[in-house]
Amino acid sequence: AGRPARPARGTDFDPVPPNRLDRVSVPESYDQSVVIRWGDAVVPGAPKFDFRNQTAAAQAKQFGYNNDFVGLIPQDPLGIRNLLVVNHEYTTEVHLFPADQYDPANPTEEQVKIAWAAHGLSVVQTYRDPVFGALRAMPSRYNRRITLDTEFEVRGPAAGSKYLKTSVDPTGRRVRGTQNNCSGGVTPWGTVLSGEENFHQYFANADKVTDAETASRLKRYAIGTGASTRKWERFDKRWDVPREPNEPNRFGWVVEIDPHDPNSTPIKHTALGRFKHEAANVKITADGRVAVYSGDDERFEYIYKYVSKGKYKKGDSAHARRHNSALLDDGTLYVGRFTGDSPAGEIDGSGKLPSDGEFDGVGEWIPLASGNKSFVDGMTAEEVYVFTRLAADRAGATKMDRPEDIEPNPVNGRIYAALTNNSDRGAAGKAAADEANPRKGNKNGHILEWAEEHGDAASTRFTWRLLLVCGDPATADTYFGGFPKDQVSPISCPDNVAFDRHGNLWIATDGNALGANDGLFSVPVDGPDRGHVKQFLSVPIGAETCGPVVTDHLVLVAVQHPGEDAKSSANPTSHWPDGGSAQPRPAIVSVWKKGRFGLVGQIGVR
Ligand code: FEO
Ligand code: CA
Ligand code: CA
Ligand code: CA
Repeated sequence: AGRPARPARGTDFDPVPPNRLDRVSVPESYDQSVVIRWGDAVVPGAPKFDFRNQTAAAQAKQFGYNNDFVGLIPQDPLGIRNLLVVNHEYTTEVHLFPADQYDPANPTEEQVKIAWAAHGLSVVQTYRDPVFGALRAMPSRYNRRITLDTEFEVRGPAAGSKYLKTSVDPTGRRVRGTQNNCSGGVTPWGTVLSGEENFHQYFANADKVTDAETASRLKRYAIGTGASTRKWERFDKRWDVPREPNEPNRFGWVVEIDPHDPNSTPIKHTALGRFKHEAANVKITADGRVAVYSGDDERFEYIYKYVSKGKYKKGDSAHARRHNSALLDDGTLYVGRFTGDSPAGEIDGSGKLPSDGEFDGVGEWIPLASGNKSFVDGMTAEEVYVFTRLAADRAGATKMDRPEDIEPNPVNGRIYAALTNNSDRGAAGKAAADEANPRKGNKNGHILEWAEEHGDAASTRFTWRLLLVCGDPATADTYFGGFPKDQVSPISCPDNVAFDRHGNLWIATDGNALGANDGLFSVPVDGPDRGHVKQFLSVPIGAETCGPVVTDHLVLVAVQHPGEDAKSSANPTSHWPDGGSAQPRPAIVSVWKKGRFGLVGQIGVR
C-alpha cells in the first residue's frame, strides 16, 4: 500500500534532527518563549531571583526547581486565561547553590530549607496571546506555592492508619508537604493529580531499623540507608527513619491539588495505593464512574488501575470538585497482568517480532482491595493500601520495564503507557524478556497500548499490543507500529505522554540513549500513519523533556535539569535559558506556529 502524501492531521511539520545544541530547537516557522523559570516570582512579594543570595523565604514565593508535570486548565472557552500547574520534582544541591557556598558533606540549615521550598508545586495564572502566540505568567490571586511545608489532608481507607502515625501527627491524617512530584494529570473536574515518585531517597538510616517486618517493608520500597545525599535528617528527625519509622509511609501517594481555590488543603488519596507513582490519569467508565491509571516507575514494577464506587458529576464547580474528589477515596484498586499470545520461544529478548507480526496479547486487572476489604491473602486492606508493592507481588502481577506516564486517548479510547527502559531485563537472577517487555537489557524503552473490554475503563479484561519499540530505526530491535522505519525520527526513553485533539500521541523523552539531546515527538496511533514518529522539539544539554501539553495553538514543555551532567555549578555545561555565562535554570517553554502575517497558526498544520 502506498503511503499518504501528507502526514496525519496535526503532525504536518518538518522534524527537528537529533542534535546536541544548548537550546530548545523547534521546527521551521515555529517560535518559542520561556513562560516561567526556576526563581521567577509566583506569589506576590517574591524577591528577584539572586543565585548567590538565595533564601528559603524567597524560594517559597518563587517558582521551584526541576519542573516536571505541566497542566494547563483553561478558564475561558478560547483558552486565553489558563491556570498553569507545575510539579517541582527534586533538587540537585550542587546545581542549586554556588559551588563556593555549598559543601555536600555539611549543608547549612538555610540551604536545607531552601531545598524544601524548591520542592512541591506551583500554580500560576497565565495569559495566552491569541494573536502572537506566547503564553505569559501573570500576577494573580490564584498563584500559589505548595512546598514540603504545606499541610496535606490524608483521605481514603488508610487515613488514620497506625502505619501513618508519627510523633508530630498522632492522627495519621495530616502530612507536612509533598516531595518528588513527578508527572500527573488534569482531572475532568479541573483539579490536578500528582504522583509522589522517588520519595525513598530523602530518608536516612532505614538499615538501622531493628523490627524485622518494618525493615522488610522499608527495603521493598528502597527507603534510604545510611546518611542521605541531602542530609536533611540533621535538621528534622522525620527524615531519620529509626526515629520516625512511619514517616516514609506518608509519601508515595497520589496527591490532588485544587488550583481554582488557592486556600484549599491539598489531599493525599490513599485508595490509589502507595508506590513510586509516576503520574495519575482519569478516564470515565461506561456507567459514569472514575477510573485512574498509574504506573510505579522502577525496574520490574507494576501498572495499576483504580475504579471508584460512586459516579462522576459533570463540571468543575466547587460542588462538582468536592464530589468527584471524594470518588477517589472509595473504590477498587487493581494491578495489571499482561500475557503474550506468541510461543514463548519466539520472545528471545532480541526484540525481533514474533511470527504473528506483533508483540501483543491479553490482560487482566487483578483486584487488590476494595474499600476496607482485602483480596490479598495475609494482608489487611490497610496493608494493601500502604504497602501496595507487597500486595501486587503476591497477586502475581506483570513486572514491567519502568512504567512512566499512562494516559487514555480521548479519541480512540485506548490507554497508552510509556515504559522508559530497563537495563536489568533478562539479567542473571532478574525477570526474563516477555512479550510485553520483549528486549533484554532494554536501553531505549517502548510504548504499550491497551483496549479495555467493550471500551469500558471499568472492565477487568483487555487486549494489548506494543505501539513502538524505541531506539535507532536502523537497528533490527526496533518497531514503529509497522510504519516504514526509514521515514521516522529516532526516539529513546519515552517518559511523559499527552494527546492532541486529533488523538495523536506526543511523547517526551528522558535519558536519550542514542547520544542526542532529549525531545518531544508526535506519533499518530491510527490509520496509515500509525507509528510515524516525528521529532517536534529538542531540549538543551543535560535536560529531559517533561510536560507536555499540546493544544490547537500551543505546545508546552517543561525543560527539566538543563546542565545536570555538570559536576557542580562551578563549571556549567548549559547556560540555558539566560545565555552567556549564566547558570542553567529549569523552565517552562511555550511553542507556537507563526502563521500568515506573523499571527499565530495551528500546531501541526501547514
Ligand atoms: Fe520522575 Fe519516572 O520520572
Ligand atoms: Ca504476538
Ligand atoms: Ca517522569
Ligand atoms: Ca523520568
